[in-house]
Amino acid sequence: CYPSPNVSPVTKVVPDFAFAFDIDGVLLKGGEVIPEAVEALKVLNGKNQFGIDIPYIFVTNGGGKTEAERCQDLSKQLETVVSPDQFICGHSPMREMADVYGTVLVVGGEGEKCRDVAKTYGFKNIVTPGDLMKSNPAVTPFRKLKDSEHNSCKELDLEELEIEAIFVFADSRHWGDDAQIILELLMSKNGRMGTVSETFEEGPPIYWSHNDVVWATNYELNRYGMGAFRVFVESMYKHQTGKDLKTSTAFGKPQIGTYQFATRVLEQWRESRFGAKGAPKTVYFVGDTYEIDIKGTNEYHETVDEEWYSILVETGVYAPGSVPAHEPRQIAKNVLDAVLHGIKRSH
Ligand code: G3P
Ligand code: MG
Repeated sequence: CYPSPNVSPVTKVVPDFAFAFDIDGVLLKGGEVIPEAVEALKVLNGKNQFGIDIPYIFVTNGGGKTEAERCQDLSKQLETVVSPDQFICGHSPMREMADVYGTVLVVGGEGEKCRDVAKTYGFKNIVTPGDLMKSNPAVTPFRKLKDSEHNSCKELDLEELEIEAIFVFADSRHWGDDAQIILELLMSKNGRMGTVSETFEEGPPIYWSHNDVVWATNYELNRYGMGAFRVFVESMYKHQTGKDLKTSTAFGKPQIGTYQFATRVLEQWRESRFGAKGAPKTVYFVGDTYEIDIKGTNEYHETVDEEWYSILVETGVYAPGSVPAHEPRQIAKNVLDAVLHGIKRSH
């Protein structure tokens, strides 16, 4: 369902193994390419002792751009063509919710970019926190929209507005303001701004594109991510209402659904690009966060016939030398070592 760049199919022997890569902490860090990443992909693209092309896909919890746009960026950074057909990001499964809800609040990402992502997914009536701030600036007492933000937002009649669901597409750039709005809606009467429910059972559900509490950037310590924002929102909800927020759901890794989705994408990719049918015998999943990538891969491995083999790299969230709470099948210094390990093991 994604547009593909013009890539001709590979015609050589298709190996019965494949790779799936996490991105942040494995291939990129703080937006910069991890040095071994380019070489690792060259090895998969035929620069190996067998001269074969080895299929691979990307499974990141990150997001904030359309899949096509993100793949264009990745192609430049990784010096190889990355197709949206081999790419899954945190919000990719949200496209399946576009027909379920009418009016939705879309939160997170740079500026209003996630509005465009939601549009490409087919969401019909998309509202952003910026629209609500433009419609009533008193909603967020400590933030005024910049002129550029003001121009790209819509003015709405808040009396008429009913938010049916909240989708956090990417990391919030303004926790305080976004939390103010999200919490108001969660505690509202049927998603109407300016109302407070008596039962706290009428608010819209909230969907998070992932649940990463921390992630690896170019700072020496891990930084808080969307999962941390979720903890904050849910604790505030409990603090205010005395109730647990039951209608809060996260997509992304380590959810089993994301791995099932990844299997379908990998099968389609092997078929369209390599002419091979079915799932490979082994999938090497290379990740940097044991609570997410390793946990998810190990758990998924237990549910399927194929082997999902977890490899933890030392270039991201995981601190080398510590004992990972979810044990990987292999620890590798970096993504190149991970790739070489997988190839050696499968050949
Ligand atoms: O915001 C993205 C980050 O939490 C993790 O991305 O590529 O490590 O799944 P990734
Ligand atoms: Mg990662």
